[in-house]
Amino acid sequence: MITITFASYIIGHRHSVFFYHLCSRRFLTRDTNALFGISIQFDIMSVILIGGSPGTGKTKVASILGAKLNVEVISLTTLADKAGCVSMKDMVRDTGIINEDCLVDAIIKEVEEKRRRVVLEGHYIDLVPSGSVEIIFILRAHPAVLRERLTKRGYTESKVNENVEAEVIGVCQLDALDSFGEEKVIEIDTSHKHPSDSVDTILELMKNPTRGNRIDWMQQLEQEGRLDDFLRD
Ligand SMILES: Nc1ncnc2c1ncn2[C@@H]1O[C@H](COP(=O)(O)OP(=O)(O)O)[C@@H](O)[C@H]1O
Ligand SMILES: [Mg+2]
Repeated sequence: MITITFASYIIGHRHSVFFYHLCSRRFLTRDTNALFGISIQFDIMSVILIGGSPGTGKTKVASILGAKLNVEVISLTTLADKAGCVSMKDMVRDTGIINEDCLVDAIIKEVEEKRRRVVLEGHYIDLVPSGSVEIIFILRAHPAVLRERLTKRGYTESKVNENVEAEVIGVCQLDALDSFGEEKVIEIDTSHKHPSDSVDTILELMKNPTRGNRIDWMQQLEQEGRLDDFLRD
């Protein structure tokens, strides 16, 4: 269970308090396959993963991408719900707490059963066995844009700040790189694009993957002289 590992981690890193549920659990499970003792061989690398902070456009982009590729789209949040993997609720953050073993089982079952390409979107992407993953797109949004999107969504100020801060630091990016490696992880800046333009960029990059497209908001905000507006002490 995530909470057990989390409790032991809390001592070491203040950010874990805020970020453990935001993307996947970068600070807790750097290598899911090792953690869960999974060494499953998949016939095909059939999963296209869409990750990113809340509000970066995962659900929207995945749905358009799935339609364009004519493949099924699976939301990890929905899957976790359907498979009964949301064991309790974090009342402070108004978010469910996932039983990771349960979700890993559900993901493996889905991927094995389908035996064809699927788009998987959501948090917890590091729970997806890397042997099944073809490519990962991490959606990014400029912290100012993200703040606006999340505020419009009706999130509380503290929830907005937590998520924006995670995006500034690049929690989802770092997490994906840890779990899947440089080669497979591609970042898409959705800040000033229409979702369907983000999908066109994704389709283009699937044909011609480019490397070294890392996004660093921390550096950009520092250059803009407004890093302090987005990071708390
Ligand atoms: N280029 C873009 N790509 C994806 N979403 C975008 C983009 N521009 C604006 N949005 C908006 O961002 C909001 C968050 O999208 P959503 O798919 O719910 O994000 P997530 O699933 O990552 O939380 C939506 O209102 C969406 O229309
Ligand atoms: Mg979503």
